[in-house]
Amino acid sequence: MDLFEAIGTQRAMRRLKDDPVSDADVWKILDAAIKAPSGGNRQPWNFIVVRDAETKRKLGEYYLDAWNKVYADGGGQPGQDDSSQSRVYRSANYLAHHLAEAPVLIIATVRGGGAAGGGGSIYPAVQNLMLAARALGLGTTLTSLHKLHEAEVKELLGIPEGIETMALIPLGWPKGRFGPPERMPVEKVVYWEQWGDRREQ
Ligand SMILES: Cc1cc2nc3c(=O)[nH]c(=O)nc-3n(C[C@H](O)[C@H](O)[C@H](O)COP(=O)(O)O)c2cc1C
Repeated sequence: MDLFEAIGTQRAMRRLKDDPVSDADVWKILDAAIKAPSGGNRQPWNFIVVRDAETKRKLGEYYLDAWNKVYADGGGQPGQDDSSQSRVYRSANYLAHHLAEAPVLIIATVRGGGAAGGGGSIYPAVQNLMLAARALGLGTTLTSLHKLHEAEVKELLGIPEGIETMALIPLGWPKGRFGPPERMPVEKVVYWEQWGDRREQ
């Protein structure tokens, strides 16, 4: 698949079938993830691939509890207009109640902090992962709500001190279709030479 087509049709795919995803596909996606840049090329990442039903069930419980605490009032997610807010809300609500049904959950972790660590050294890899999945026709969503239960998730997965979870990514064959993500037009957010100087394409 052409890279621009993959980027242009990549969006959060929260409704996933329980059809199996092969280890070969999981390896391929993670091999793309680890090609990403990181500060000082320290590659502070690890990825935990979870297929075990009981582990997924527990992760699903933590995730749903966090969802209920943060969003269950119907508040949707910030930065969205009303219609897409309710669409995003419904989709996120579905995921919160079905997380454990995804055939694979991938937890991306990072070691250390500072400018060269933290999110800057893991999210490029997560984006690679999601685009590689898209190229294979597999759906993903970058999620973070499990962070409300960071200590429990770390204990469940045996993650040692000094390592932080940064994303939980459900992976599976999507029920719906890929399509263009809803974004502001590029001309609105790009300035040329000076802050505020917009141009038409
Ligand atoms: C840092 C970060 C954290 C996110 N956490 C969650 C989450 O916990 N649950 C969820 O359903 N989506 C989560 N998302 C996905 C966003 O809601 C999604 O990317 C955004 O609404 C745009 O949707 P689209 O990619 O389908 O256009 C997160 C995205 C980012 C970048």
